Amino acid sequence: MDASVLLALRDPAGVPFYPVVFQILYILTWALHIAFVLLSLGSLGLSLYGSSKGSSDRNWRILTPHLIQTGKISVSILIVLGVAPLLFTQVIYDLNWYVTNTLSGMWIFIFIYALIVGYSMYYWYYYANKAQKSSSTLIGLISFAILIFSGILMHNFTVISLMPNEWMNMYAPGGVVDTSGWVFSVDAIRLAFMVSLSIPVVGIFLQNYSQFLSTRKDFENSFIQYSANLGTKLAIIGLLISAVLFVLWMLKVGYLFHPISLVTIAGVVMLLVMSKMNNNSYYTTLILVVVALLISSVRELIRFDLMMDLGYNIYDYPVNLEIPTIVMFLATFLIMGFVGVAYLLTMAWKVGKNEGVFDGSKDALVSKLGQSTLYIMIAWIAIYFAWGIGILFSNIL
Ligand code: HEM
Repeated sequence: MDASVLLALRDPAGVPFYPVVFQILYILTWALHIAFVLLSLGSLGLSLYGSSKGSSDRNWRILTPHLIQTGKISVSILIVLGVAPLLFTQVIYDLNWYVTNTLSGMWIFIFIYALIVGYSMYYWYYYANKAQKSSSTLIGLISFAILIFSGILMHNFTVISLMPNEWMNMYAPGGVVDTSGWVFSVDAIRLAFMVSLSIPVVGIFLQNYSQFLSTRKDFENSFIQYSANLGTKLAIIGLLISAVLFVLWMLKVGYLFHPISLVTIAGVVMLLVMSKMNNNSYYTTLILVVVALLISSVRELIRFDLMMDLGYNIYDYPVNLEIPTIVMFLATFLIMGFVGVAYLLTMAWKVGKNEGVFDGSKDALVSKLGQSTLYIMIAWIAIYFAWGIGILFSNIL
């Protein structure tokens, strides 16, 4: 692929801030996206095992609905968190993303509908399980398969965006233009690695779950022990599988001895030791977050190098500084985002730790965070509209 073609596909308006910032934000937000992808697939997958056991097993009677609920919430979070890396990739790698959307247009449509059907069926599974319907496992299985299929499509978009040398062949195979939008490509090892990570993620989640519930008197100790042991088993087996697949993937792309790849492997070994000991799973989770960021960095490194070899350097993207936009974005992200998320997380933590009904209005911290979130949102809406209307009138008057 000629570099001039790639450069011609860039946005002539340039980017509103330094490309490296978008690159860092991409790495950060994709790690968040995949964390919830893995948690949702892992907990939904494991809940199917519990659901197939029915209500005969005392431990699974408690665990299955909790796993279903975890996965259900995680899907909505993964969708919201998927938007962020999508926006950042569109800013600095817009050509890759848009060419993929053209070549794979039909799959893009199918992705949206698959997600809607898969998630709706998840709710069906949730209610069927609640009502102890015998069909619930089958409904859950179909939902699981559709959500996995959505992940395969997402992976297909990534793979095609990494094949600029093939784009012309895909667009006009044998010189005949093909506008069907059915282009599809899979890198089996990379995909298997990504999906396999859902096993250790749900394992470490279960360790956290048991540690979190261990302070509650209304959960029996035998149940806490059971979920902790199950978590440890899943974490160890899953980490071993993922580690082998990661090494195979790195060997294939020739990055096995790259420092980031070596640090990632060291991180996985550390996770193995920490999950096996299970002294404090909250620390294990911190390392898991670091490993997720490293995997996200490896993905970006592969893409960055590939594009550099073709003569496309994101750092050379023309910058058209737009300070007000960046200030608005950062203020929204850091102030409103952090306070709002802190409010929701603090409340969720306290609700979970509390036996019986938790009244947030009687809790000083929750009330303070709730009020701050409300005031910040009111200020945000006022600034947003005043600013927008101001710019609109200054442009047209
Ligand atoms: C159940 C639904 C989903 C699953 C299972 C899923 C899974 C995945 C996986 C496995 C990857 C990594 C692919 C690879 O590197 O080979 C990925 C990447 C990505 N996903 Fe998702 N995803 C889902 C939904 C979404 C949604 C709804 C969005 C956007 C709103 C989204 C945005 C992204 C983005 C932007 C990337 C990175 C693309 C790139 O830059 O190459 N995903 N997803």
